[in-house]
Amino acid sequence: MSTMGSARPVTAPRIRDAKGSGTPLVMVTAYDAPSARTVDAAGADMILVGDSVAMVVLGYDDTLQVTTADMVHHVAAVARTRPNALVVADLPWLSYHVNREETVRNAASLIRAGAGAVKLEGGVKRIEAVKAILETEIPVMGHIGLTPQSIHALGGFKVQGKELDAAQALTDDAIALADAGCFAIVLECVPDAVARMITESVPVPTIGIGAGRHCDGQVLVWHDILGFEAEGHRRPKFVRTYAEFERDATGAIEQFCADVRAGTFPSSAETYHMTDRMTEALGLYGDADAGAVEPELTK
Ligand code: KIV
Repeated sequence: MSTMGSARPVTAPRIRDAKGSGTPLVMVTAYDAPSARTVDAAGADMILVGDSVAMVVLGYDDTLQVTTADMVHHVAAVARTRPNALVVADLPWLSYHVNREETVRNAASLIRAGAGAVKLEGGVKRIEAVKAILETEIPVMGHIGLTPQSIHALGGFKVQGKELDAAQALTDDAIALADAGCFAIVLECVPDAVARMITESVPVPTIGIGAGRHCDGQVLVWHDILGFEAEGHRRPKFVRTYAEFERDATGAIEQFCADVRAGTFPSSAETYHMTDRMTEALGLYGDADAGAVEPELTK
């Protein structure tokens, strides 16, 4: 159960008001119904339908490949599970960079798919987009630090804000986002001292990923928590993996392959049988160990 209680769905204002509550907020990504069910049942406060779907689900190398239509598809699958957690949907690259009207329409399509808030990347530079969306009554979560949609401009997946100027610029970005009305801000891959400075400078919760323990909450990617990753993938140091799903899933499917090939799947219990009478009437021989089962065709 979310620490916010299960009776009422979690909303953006409740997340904003949780700043200083003393209990860190939890956000986990999900991209479809099964992953959303696990995150909600585990009691996370927020489900992020992240544009990381590009890499962890769709097999792309970066997040730049996903479109608003892709995001709508995944948000709808998550929302159909009717989670108690707040569903936050990522606005993908280029969906809020062109003009105000496109920005608002793209944000609205994520809300119509079932999200309760949207997230976008960037600070001072994106304040106009943030304001345009807020103007239509859609809650916005900010995201600064390592912003994967700027991967080419940043020159790779690198820790941000290590120098004094960069740390100050990030703090200015966070203050601008909070002043504009964002209800929370993701801080990705920044030194813990910078995350602490930002967290102490804004009146809204900061949600860290690779930003140390001084944030107001933490977010991780579902596939990272569960160890669902291609062989040879280098786990970032901020990921704590709680299971080895890729290994375990492969092992389970290997076992299925072996059972089919050995003729041990399906067993009699995994098979629909006719009664002996029907088998005889059809001139067939029944499975010796099947026995007569009523009704004539069992489930
Ligand atoms: O898309 C995503 O998964 C994210 C998190 C890394 C915060 O934006």
